[in-house]
Amino acid sequence: MISRSTAVALVAVLGLPLLSVAGSSAAAPGPCGSAAARPWCDRDLPPDRRAGLLVKALTLDEKLGLMAGDDALGPLSTETNPDSHEGTVRGVPRLGVPTVLMAGGGPAGIRQGPGTALPAPIALGAGFSTAAAARYGRLVGDEGRRRGNDIVLGPALDILRIPNAGRGYESYGEDPYLTGALGAPWIRAAQKQGVMSMIKHYPANNQETDRYKMNAVVDSRTMREIYLPPFEAAVRRGGAAAVMCGYNQVNGKPSCSNGAFLGSVLRGSWGFRGFVASDWLVGAKNTAGSVRGGMDIEMPVGLVYSKDRLSEALRDKKITRGQIDKRVRAYLRTLFAHGVFDRARYRDRPQTIDVAAGNRTAQSVAENGVTLLRNKGVLPLKAGTSVAVIGSSAADYISGVGSSRVTPRDPVTALEGIRARAGGTVAYADGSSLTAAAATARRADVAIVVVSDAREEAEDLKCLTLKCGAPDREDQDALIRRVAAANRNTVVVMQTGGPVLTPWRNRIAGLVQAWYPGERGGTAIARVLYGDAEPGGRLPVTFPLTGVKAAKGGTVRYTERLHVGYRRYNARKLPVAYPFGYGLSYTKFKYSRLKVSGNRVQVTVTNTGNRSGSAVPQLYLTFPRSAGEPPRQLKGFKKVTLAPGRSRRVTFVLDQRSFSVWKSGWKAVRGCHTVEVGSSSRGLPLSARVCR
Ligand code: BGC
Repeated sequence: MISRSTAVALVAVLGLPLLSVAGSSAAAPGPCGSAAARPWCDRDLPPDRRAGLLVKALTLDEKLGLMAGDDALGPLSTETNPDSHEGTVRGVPRLGVPTVLMAGGGPAGIRQGPGTALPAPIALGAGFSTAAAARYGRLVGDEGRRRGNDIVLGPALDILRIPNAGRGYESYGEDPYLTGALGAPWIRAAQKQGVMSMIKHYPANNQETDRYKMNAVVDSRTMREIYLPPFEAAVRRGGAAAVMCGYNQVNGKPSCSNGAFLGSVLRGSWGFRGFVASDWLVGAKNTAGSVRGGMDIEMPVGLVYSKDRLSEALRDKKITRGQIDKRVRAYLRTLFAHGVFDRARYRDRPQTIDVAAGNRTAQSVAENGVTLLRNKGVLPLKAGTSVAVIGSSAADYISGVGSSRVTPRDPVTALEGIRARAGGTVAYADGSSLTAAAATARRADVAIVVVSDAREEAEDLKCLTLKCGAPDREDQDALIRRVAAANRNTVVVMQTGGPVLTPWRNRIAGLVQAWYPGERGGTAIARVLYGDAEPGGRLPVTFPLTGVKAAKGGTVRYTERLHVGYRRYNARKLPVAYPFGYGLSYTKFKYSRLKVSGNRVQVTVTNTGNRSGSAVPQLYLTFPRSAGEPPRQLKGFKKVTLAPGRSRRVTFVLDQRSFSVWKSGWKAVRGCHTVEVGSSSRGLPLSARVCR
């Protein structure tokens, strides 16, 4: 998200157009029209053919107009204005080309004034549930359409490479397999609602420090194995309609003019047939390079794709008419393929939002992502337990800040959720005085300290402690220590957008990670604390023991190569606070009878406890040493809900890619691999050798 002052300054300096929404609807062309007059309106023709016919009918000026959005200030009003869109690409009424509207937000809900504020994507990552991902995408797609949008700007598929990433909360964590496995069903479900999904930020956009120009230097194997697979899954399996190229450069070339990634990889290897748009205002860095590289449209207005600049590049023979046609055809083809020409504009028939359904989805995704990291018998809370809630974060709605932040309609804070569930009085201390907090804690059976970090777009956290991750709050680390000293039944509930340091973890009785849990977060937290719901989450990121160095700007070499996240900790056998994939349950699960036959791996999961719960069996593969790969890579997971005493036989299917590494192409590795199955990347009781 560009800051208001930067954008207003840009608008003033460049004399950019500001399109009012009313203006856009006046220009609305409506449906394509009759095929007799406009052959591209013939629905029986394939999208490519229709786009080809239309491109022939467009004047050069009209084509150049389609290569950029028309509303510079959209992004600044979507947080509060229910009538605004983040982007608008004006159509060509003469030929029935519709105006296309893009929703604010996307990764965590529709941002168009208040709306359903879903839990942050990192919470969905923690859910390890493809069904929850589909529910999430369906809601974003449905609400996006009902609010008049043709496109939603999500999901974000960047890997959480540095634990302190400012936009870490928008990611599904540090693993490429998990990210792709959740992204694809999200996109399919969203697009089924009739909108297009724009995946972002392609490729290797992993930090905020120096974000408009940092240069990620990434070798091709690392790129293919770590950073690209989520996008590949989104394109091949999710059928994503659009791709947003990032602000950053990759290997010295801006992402939005990087022909290697926009052309050879995306369209060549993966067969992408949609369109590519720049990230907002400063994503596109140059005119001819972007046209040649494969960026189809610039958003939210034409800076490098202004008609003047494009005409000049044509005149100077830096680009050709054929290249312009290619860009315009990619955009139009996508609109044809997604039915945009053949339906009434959504904006002309806005539908009401099912608020209750939104709340239900928000709550179930939140519960599904709540991750229980420590429980010394204190949870679930027993009826009649007196409870004290402590910390300023308990009384606030906690979310990440940036372009994906949705203004919640009627959020439930942790304090409100716990109060509503507890019945009777719940004592509360805001944490501004450690002495008062300790006194309040001492008087209750259980003390619940609610803490948070403050991640935001455009800035990475300087370090990973709570104190440093939320500098505007009371010293939350000191608060936890003080309360834990006053009450041995202290439970800490974290609402953070990624990993934080937990140096006090052995002094407390319970630790619950709720992430940024969305508008029904307080209800979800209370339900998990009281055992009405189970803690469904597992960590999609490692919680490390020590801090991280501040992110560097400028040229950032990805020298760790494949050793991202848990891959590095496992390869070096480094201790961690909580490993990737980890999360406790209120019941117990046993894993047994591992059997590998061909590419099928089967295992039995049994609920050996006395309450129902969900297990997340995870499959990790270790390549033969000769492959030069980090050990234990996630290649499969399932979420299975089991009543006490019940078992389920779970099947994972590995494919050729599971056993392959990138060496100028995907090469299956010969030799003996180790397959391990269990409950986390460091809790793998079953193993088998697979020789190929
Ligand atoms: C962000 C994108 C977002 C866009 C429009 C940019 O600053 O990087 O993720 O979609 O703004 O909101």
